Amino acid sequence: MAHALVLIASPNGAASVSRAMLDRYLARRKVRFPDETLTIRDLTLPENALPNLSAEFITAMFLPPDARTPEQARELDVSDQLVGEFQAADTLIVATPIHNYTVPTPLKAWIDHVSRPGMTFAYIDGKRQGLAHARSAVFLLSSGGIYTSGPQEVEDFLAPYLRHMMVFFGIPDVTVLRAEGVAWDAPFAIAQAEAQIDAAI
Ligand SMILES: Cc1cc2nc3c(=O)[nH]c(=O)nc-3n(C[C@H](O)[C@H](O)[C@H](O)COP(=O)(O)O)c2cc1C
Repeated sequence: MAHALVLIASPNGAASVSRAMLDRYLARRKVRFPDETLTIRDLTLPENALPNLSAEFITAMFLPPDARTPEQARELDVSDQLVGEFQAADTLIVATPIHNYTVPTPLKAWIDHVSRPGMTFAYIDGKRQGLAHARSAVFLLSSGGIYTSGPQEVEDFLAPYLRHMMVFFGIPDVTVLRAEGVAWDAPFAIAQAEAQIDAAI
């Protein structure tokens, strides 16, 4: 049965534009794929807070599993769990705002924890290879500014970064749906996003 991992990165709770986009997207996805199961990970919940990568974590992740001390293995426990969740998914769905031109901290921490050599990527004969199981990813992005056209186009770091991370993980099919210009005209930005979602699924 198809399975999707859903990540939420907005701290804005019920007022969040990206969460509202996600609600609409998931409702439509449920109609299209009624049997698909979901794991929903709200990265902003205190119980899901992820630590920054430590020196011990980095040492441990580059050691083969059987060479790790029990302490080193424990360093990787949370990361192992997140990688397991990621690798169980056929599709990755991410709802996130832009924060300071890039990914919000909790989403960056998730990326750091699932970027594991030998598990989600590898260098084989000097060539990078993505090892993610998922074949598709959907990003629901909200931003104060407009980045797909106009003067801020050159400042669009988030979508290219997320697309690149999917290349890194080996996920070929990437869709980006956006509510843009929320700071200028929120109802218009949301209406545009809703139209994109409805056209996408
Ligand atoms: C801390 C913070 C930083 C932000 N940085 C940017 C930014 O760099 N560029 C931008 O276009 N909007 C920025 N915004 C605006 C949000 O991206 C925008 O309000 C978005 O719709 C919020 O989505 P959400 O309601 O799902 O959290 C920022 C908002 C916050 C709270």
